[in-house]
Amino acid sequence: MNTPEIATPRCTLRLLSPHNAALLHAYKTRNQDHLSPWEPSTAQQNGSLAEACDLAAHRAWQGFMNGTSVQFIAIEHGSQRMLAGCNFTNIVRDPLQACHLGYSVDLQHQGRGLMREVAQAGIDYMFHTVGLHRIMANHMPDNIRSERLLRALGFEREGYARAYLKIAGNWEDMVLNALINQQV
Ligand SMILES: CC(C)(COP(=O)(O)OP(=O)(O)OC[C@H]1O[C@@H](n2cnc3c(N)ncnc32)[C@H](O)[C@@H]1OP(=O)(O)O)[C@@H](O)C(=O)NCCC(=O)NCCS
Repeated sequence: MNTPEIATPRCTLRLLSPHNAALLHAYKTRNQDHLSPWEPSTAQQNGSLAEACDLAAHRAWQGFMNGTSVQFIAIEHGSQRMLAGCNFTNIVRDPLQACHLGYSVDLQHQGRGLMREVAQAGIDYMFHTVGLHRIMANHMPDNIRSERLLRALGFEREGYARAYLKIAGNWEDMVLNALINQQV
């Protein structure tokens, strides 16, 4: 199986794997306060963030190998730091040909179009190389930055799900969105 490596103007997208779990750990450590209001926690109840990142990286690699997920980390040219994450999970083949998209960008690099650059590269790969038909992405109603990003990427609102995802201990409502690949 070919391992994707995708260059954008500012970053290289590489698969998250046990080999680069330390980059994920550094990113999550730097961005804990930035990410925790919007994302399910990476840390396990019993165990360190480093262990949780190792486990996430193992699972990401397994997911790529068995075709159920493609999880990218975006590494800055030059510094080699992880600046963003872009995860395509829950891949289902026939008859849906669909997956879910999750993403985040380093707080210091927010508001510069970097997430859009990375997400667009990931979407192109999922549509044109993996051959999926639909990518679904959900955000909390008050996550305006996430909503704007999805609109800029061409996602359309499809619905509203009550008590959909547990974030920071609470079942949160989510706005449901999707992007359709008209070519498959
Ligand atoms: C959601 C999130 C990824 C959005 O990141 P972002 O940096 O706002 O998204 P983009 O990369 O699209 O950047 C858009 C901004 O960059 C600006 N920008 C600057 N240069 C740009 C360029 N070359 N191209 C496009 N936009 C550019 C845009 O004008 C826009 O500015 P604004 O925020 O003032 O409106 C980010 O807020 C985040 O990580 N949040 C925490 C985690 C999270 O919420 N994850 C999603 C859960 S659903």
